[in-house]
Amino acid sequence: MANQGVNDPHHEPVNTGRRRFLTATTAVVGAVGAGFVAVPFIKSWSPSERAKLAGAPITVDISALEEGQRLVHEWRGQPIWIVRRSQQALQILPTLDDQLRDPMSENPEQQPAYVLGSNPELRSIKPEVSVLVGLCTHLGCSPEMKAEIRPEPFDANWKGGYFCPCHKSKFDMSGRVYEGVPAPTNLVVPPHHYVDDNTIVIGVDPQGVA
Ligand code: FES
Repeated sequence: MANQGVNDPHHEPVNTGRRRFLTATTAVVGAVGAGFVAVPFIKSWSPSERAKLAGAPITVDISALEEGQRLVHEWRGQPIWIVRRSQQALQILPTLDDQLRDPMSENPEQQPAYVLGSNPELRSIKPEVSVLVGLCTHLGCSPEMKAEIRPEPFDANWKGGYFCPCHKSKFDMSGRVYEGVPAPTNLVVPPHHYVDDNTIVIGVDPQGVA
C-alpha cells in the first residue's frame, strides 16, 4: 500500500499522526527493552553506550511520501515531521515573509545553517521536503498540520501550515512562526542528511559540516 505509514491531511491528520507517533515510540521502547534484557550477557555495555542508543540517529525511507503528506517518526523523544510540500506551497512561502517573526531564520538555534542555503524561506535541503521537530516553541505541544489553503476558524486568510490550538501559535509550511502569537521562535529543524534520493538520516549532519 503506497500510503501506509503516511499521514493523509484529508483524512484525520491529527489522529493518524498520533497513531504513527505512538507506533514509532513503541518500536523504540521495544528495542530498548531488548537491550536491557541483553545486559547480563554484555557486561561491557556502559552508560555512555546506552546514552548513545537513546540519541541514536534514525533512518527514514521517504519513497512513499506523496505531495501534501507527512511522515511522523520519533528521534530523541521528539516527534519528527517529514513533509513533502507542493509547488503551490513553496510559491506561497515568500509571500508570507512580512507576517512572520523571523522570516529569514536568523536565529541560529532553530536550524542548522546548511538548510538555509540560497533560499532560506524553505528551511530545507531539498526544496519540497521539509524536516521539522514537531513541537511548538512556546510550551512544547505538538501543533496540528493544516496544509490546505483555505479559511480556517483561527485565520480567515490561512495559507497552509501548522497550528497549535492550546494558545493559538501559527507556523507556515517551513515551520516559520507568525507575528503576534505566543511561540517565540520558528520550529526547530533537526540535523539531517540524505543518504540517497529517498533516504534521510535524522540526527547526523551532512558530511563535511562541522
Ligand atoms: S504550546 Fe505553543 S501555542 Fe500551544
